[in-house]
Amino acid sequence: MIKSTLPIFLILLCLNACKEASKNEPMENPDVTSYYTEAYRPQFHFSPEEKWMNDPNGLVYHKGIYHLFYQYYPDDIVWGPMHWGHATSKDLIHWEHKPVALFPDEHGLIFSGSAVVDTNNNSGFGTGENPPLVAIFTYHDMEGEKAGRTDYQTQGIAYSLDNGDSWTKYDGNPVIKNDGMRDFRDPKVFWNEIKNNWTMLLVAGDHLQIWQSNDLKAWEKVSEFGKDKGAHGGVWECPDMFKLNVEGTDTDKWVLLISINPGAPNGGSGTQYFVGDFDGTTFTTDQEEAKWVDWGRDNYAGVTYNNVPENQRIFIGWMSNWDYARDTPTEVWRSANTIPRNLSLHKNNGTLELYSYPIANFDEIVEHSYGETPVALKPEQRTQIPLKYGNQSEIRFHMEALDSKWIFSNPEGDSLVLQLNQKDKMFSLDRSKSGKVDFKPEFVLGKQHMPVPNLPTVAIEVRMLLDKSSLEIFLNKGQYVMTNQIFPNVDYTELTLENTSDTEQKIDSLSESKVMRIWD
Ligand code: FRU
Repeated sequence: MIKSTLPIFLILLCLNACKEASKNEPMENPDVTSYYTEAYRPQFHFSPEEKWMNDPNGLVYHKGIYHLFYQYYPDDIVWGPMHWGHATSKDLIHWEHKPVALFPDEHGLIFSGSAVVDTNNNSGFGTGENPPLVAIFTYHDMEGEKAGRTDYQTQGIAYSLDNGDSWTKYDGNPVIKNDGMRDFRDPKVFWNEIKNNWTMLLVAGDHLQIWQSNDLKAWEKVSEFGKDKGAHGGVWECPDMFKLNVEGTDTDKWVLLISINPGAPNGGSGTQYFVGDFDGTTFTTDQEEAKWVDWGRDNYAGVTYNNVPENQRIFIGWMSNWDYARDTPTEVWRSANTIPRNLSLHKNNGTLELYSYPIANFDEIVEHSYGETPVALKPEQRTQIPLKYGNQSEIRFHMEALDSKWIFSNPEGDSLVLQLNQKDKMFSLDRSKSGKVDFKPEFVLGKQHMPVPNLPTVAIEVRMLLDKSSLEIFLNKGQYVMTNQIFPNVDYTELTLENTSDTEQKIDSLSESKVMRIWD
């Protein structure tokens, strides 16, 4: 909030100036006392300074900098004509806001896509010494859509020779035209080491298409996947694909991510994955069932970084859901990203499972408190833990994976209820009384359920990141994950752990640690 002691004309002047500045350039000299302190403002997650954000785009690492581009509408806090907003980071935790990178043009709005470092200058946009960053995105022609055409989504490219500070659109755009596919978008491009070419994943309504190119300009379609595989409750969006080693083995497998809206297991938007093989041209899998990256309602359109050193697979998702994204109770900005997560593949009971777990850098901003002495809860017994850090904390404990209930609560009567039911191999989350929930009926569709079929029965780690308006839950180092927005009327002040099993349950290394704010 702006201090009320300022003369009103100064306030108006500042509001106006700030508004103008935000369109094209990052705000300078933000008022440090009010910067990023609005109600529900995430303190350690990325959110734009102001206005509407959706999907992360163009995740690429170049010259020591992690770039984050994102679907951005600089004029309102609801979705509108899309631009690519831009922020950079050296550690994926602290972010610097940059000017808007890509603006709509005569071909249309700038929808989701990716970015690559064109190391060998195959595109010719740069030089061998200064390879270009190339962004590949979808053009959405609003006029075409309004006129009832079906070919209004095409693919375009742009390049930057100054590590993302300024961008030039290619004058041969669009590089892929559309022959009548209403949903034809979200190109993810990566360097294909099997074929030594650029490979693009593109979604076309109910399936994935794979295209290839030698110069990022001329593209040829080489295969399709998925018309009869996985979940099809909605349109396929935001594909990604990469190789991962199956932990503890010599085997590598390919993982394909496909966001889908609607059709997620707990309603609205969600991200499924397939584990299979890629021969350089075609993706195949014998997986029949749908698998999900995250079972919470607020992790959508997530994709991974290109060009990251040491082969890490780092994922960022948009922490919202199209069911209610435009209605959440914030006024200055709308929505945030998940904590960057490291993806890994594990074989449990014969099944390949994708784990996602906060990147190691995140630990740098956690003021670790040491675990309390272990508690042993008798059946039906509860323990109450006061929460000291005002919804800005990491909560961790180890527990025997028996039936158990965890409740976040505050004196306003809000409660967020999590429950593990080991007999049914099910975890559930109920946010129906978690705080403000009535801004859109779809925010609460009932209890959320997450099957945990391969959760070990021995002691498991429970790790939760609570940041003002979100809760990310990682069970057993990211084996099963739930991400949700929450809007408590005041911060939660207590966490109750209850043993709902019929045997004694040990809880060990219980800690609540403050997480430092990243915006000072
Ligand atoms: C996913 C999505 C993409 C599209 C973008 C538009 O959330 O619908 O498919 O490119 O958002 O903003």
